[in-house]
Amino acid sequence: MCGIVGYIGSGQAAPILLEGLARLEYRGYDSAGLAVRDGEHDVEIVKAKGRLKVLSEMTDGGRALRGDCGIGHTRWATHGEPSTENAHPHCSDDRAVVAVHNGIIENYMELREKLIKNGYSFYSQTDTEVAAKLIDYYYKKYRGGPMEALARSMMRIRGSYALAVMFRDCPNEIFATRRDSPMIIGVADGASYLASDVPAILKHTRSVYYVDNLEIARLNRSSVRFCTVDQEAIEKRPVEITWDAESAEKGGFEHFMMKEIHEQPRAVQDTINSLVRGEQIDLSGAGLTDEALRAVRQVHVVACGSAYHAGVAMQYGIEDLARVPVRVDVASEFRYRRPILREGELVVIISQSGETADSLAALREAKAQGADTLAVVNVVGSTIAREADHVLYTCAGPEIAVATTKAYSAQLVVGYLLAIRLALARGTLEPEAGARMLAELRSLPEKIARILEDKERIQWFAAKFSNAKHAFFIGRGLDYAVGLEGSLKMKEISYIHSGAYAAGELKHGTISLIEERTLVVGVLTQDPLFEKMISNMVECKSRGAYLMGLTSYGNYNVEDTADFTVYIPRTDPHFTPSLAVIPLQLMGYYLSVSKGLDVDKPRNLAKSVTVE
Ligand code: AGP
Repeated sequence: MCGIVGYIGSGQAAPILLEGLARLEYRGYDSAGLAVRDGEHDVEIVKAKGRLKVLSEMTDGGRALRGDCGIGHTRWATHGEPSTENAHPHCSDDRAVVAVHNGIIENYMELREKLIKNGYSFYSQTDTEVAAKLIDYYYKKYRGGPMEALARSMMRIRGSYALAVMFRDCPNEIFATRRDSPMIIGVADGASYLASDVPAILKHTRSVYYVDNLEIARLNRSSVRFCTVDQEAIEKRPVEITWDAESAEKGGFEHFMMKEIHEQPRAVQDTINSLVRGEQIDLSGAGLTDEALRAVRQVHVVACGSAYHAGVAMQYGIEDLARVPVRVDVASEFRYRRPILREGELVVIISQSGETADSLAALREAKAQGADTLAVVNVVGSTIAREADHVLYTCAGPEIAVATTKAYSAQLVVGYLLAIRLALARGTLEPEAGARMLAELRSLPEKIARILEDKERIQWFAAKFSNAKHAFFIGRGLDYAVGLEGSLKMKEISYIHSGAYAAGELKHGTISLIEERTLVVGVLTQDPLFEKMISNMVECKSRGAYLMGLTSYGNYNVEDTADFTVYIPRTDPHFTPSLAVIPLQLMGYYLSVSKGLDVDKPRNLAKSVTVE
């Protein structure tokens, strides 16, 4: 997620903007920039790749930039690699319009082509430059003033945005608007402030206005006015912020992990939107045309940890829908087992960070053997993204907690989309069935949100088992893949030993470990395997296990066997991992909290394992 700040008042703007951006560093970024102006003088823009420190050193802490009005930005790349050119602010060539943006403009290519036809050229790869020049286009074409230019642009832009804009003709004002991306505004001591999030302005005021979707704000030195996209004035009441700075960075949640668990509906939504054009899954942006997909004879999925677990789910989806053989490997094994790769084989590397050493080595091994490689990564411009032949980005935004949640969920979604597109290209899935699956996929964010509304039940259950020493996760098919991830969540943040097993495997040894009150979590979302799963759970229960059942609404007979049952909304059987994993993430989280552990930074772990 990018960070936006804005200031207009009697003080020097640049130092205040830099300080605000520093408060937003937790959002993750790869470059930053400022645009400030001093009265009627032209806007001065300074941008730098890397940490805020670079920008601060370039501007002597902001003191070298004169002016009491400005906007600033920290960029988390979504379109275009991290670079000075792609850093914000972006502007029209004559600097009549200067803007910073947080969000994803889905139709930016269409708008870019429209602007090129109208004489515009582009210096960056970003959707934000398109937005700035679209505003400029409407401003110059209709001469209706800033508000009208903004309103027209808002009607043409599809996607999410929080925009802060300065117009050369309005030296004493900042304009702002949003749709789905957050923005708050504060007024204090003869100055007005805007930001993506509360921490950036908490030092100046605790009384903030939350800008609602499609509202436009007009800030001057001592006040802010709000109006609708139709330019009708709106009266808004400020909200008093009671959080301290640290909890404000977590959006009011106690830990980044819980904040990110709750960001999953958005991460899933953004990832779907980034790869779907209208009613079509479109992977051509990554070079995965239907022709290229038809040529794939075998898929190898290689990753580590949770990314590997997403790969196991991807295997089930691709094999079931596209009937292409898939082999899944942990990267640390793949890189040393002298893998046999042949013509027509696609190696998929899944990695949130895009920097995991084993996964990078696996990618290089695959490329050395001439295999076609696809990276599924969350960090734009990361090493794995840059070295792979093709890249599909997850749009989860920066993930701070060591235990991944929203990035894993976004990886699942890329897996579903790849499987469906592959199946449609190969004719193993009818277009009508593909359309139905896509429609169901779009319902996942709302279904995830529904599960999160019921999180207290999981909290209660987790408290009962905070002293557990062992736990077993059993499932069949995709439910086994989910169990792998649920088990890792429990291990890595609550330090309770657990294992995930294909339920049919229990009788081949593991069941000897089941004792009185051993916690066994049975995941049962795959109807054809439901009865077999019940049998496996009964086997555990007869040996004294305490059974938690995780199943879809309607499967109420699970309660005849399980001691505690958690239900998830029904969905296409290929997509159940996206729903079943949520209660398991929450269980790991609440177990960790009940044990007083450091949820966001568990012992011995790093967010990105860049060494062997
Ligand atoms: C998952 O919660 C862990 N943080 C870890 O297993 C992680 O998934 C693994 O290290 C892979 O990281 P990557 O996705 O950045 O490559």
